[in-house]
Amino acid sequence: MPQPPPPSRRRSAYPLRAQSTPAQHEDGSTDQPCLLERAQLHAVPSTLLIPLAARAHGGRYFAWLACQDAVATKLLAELGADVNAYLDDLPTVLNVLWRTRAIKEVGRAFFADHPQALGVNLGCGLTHHFQWLDAGANHWLDADLPEVMALREQLLPLCCPRARHAQVDLTQPGWWKRLGLPTKTDAQPVLLVCEGVLMYLQPAQVHAVLAEFAQCAPAGSRMVLDVLTRQAVGRASANASVGLTGAEFCWGVGRMAELEQVHPRLALLREQSVSECYGWTGIALDMLWRPWLGAPLYGMATLGVEDGSA
Ligand SMILES: C[S@@+](CC[C@H](N)C(=O)[O-])C[C@H]1O[C@@H](n2cnc3c(N)ncnc32)[C@H](O)[C@@H]1O
Repeated sequence: MPQPPPPSRRRSAYPLRAQSTPAQHEDGSTDQPCLLERAQLHAVPSTLLIPLAARAHGGRYFAWLACQDAVATKLLAELGADVNAYLDDLPTVLNVLWRTRAIKEVGRAFFADHPQALGVNLGCGLTHHFQWLDAGANHWLDADLPEVMALREQLLPLCCPRARHAQVDLTQPGWWKRLGLPTKTDAQPVLLVCEGVLMYLQPAQVHAVLAEFAQCAPAGSRMVLDVLTRQAVGRASANASVGLTGAEFCWGVGRMAELEQVHPRLALLREQSVSECYGWTGIALDMLWRPWLGAPLYGMATLGVEDGSA
């Protein structure tokens, strides 16, 4: 009996809308489909439009979190994407702007300490964090699945000799070596960013990603990632944005401490909850729900790799 493809391999259930359908001319010819239609993204890769829309236009709704993304609006126009439905989902727009600010903060602090180090965006989609984190002598690598990198090559060609692109499938062990990342014996630590990615992987695959980071990264390396509570698993349809894509949430945390328990070299250096954006009401609700949720509804974690047993 043929099995349905795993969620990450399904075509988007609701094909991403182009701004307009190709017009038919009198001679029967039609305009070329837009870049987004030609890309035919699968369900999970198609979710890259959600944070892209938030970074491009989210400042309209949350001026205090506006990220001043210099390229996101242009990318949306070049893709021909109509993202109005994603902008109606204000909680998700807020989540993205909040995490962008958190990543900028972690990145700037990291490169202040390690001005020549490498930053890696795993599952980069169409983000351009190097616009904010280029400190003059550091390096940057953007990596994602082949179909996303093909799109990225067309839209965001490399513009700096210290930046590079690579294809990666994080579900395939050995990605650290395949990406040519520094080894444990290198003095220079690495910063990994992994936002909006791991919740689409199976729990065993997430553990393997974290374990590979812990096993391979030089001491002092950092990974900044976002997490959902385990209660969100299987409930992507309840999210107004992700529910439109056909992607599913497969991984969430029961307790933030689980993250560091994956490997003895890992330490949970910082955890944050998006509830901080909602003032005292948000913080009070977070405390109220925490015994049931075990973790923030939506949060960020900064993991560190320390010296010690491997
Ligand atoms: C919600 S988008 C986030 C994109 C980007 N990080 C951002 O915040 O704009 C999810 C991304 O995860 C990527 N992704 C999903 N599974 C992956 C895998 N197994 N290996 C690498 N990237 C993956 C998708 O291709 C997609 O770009």
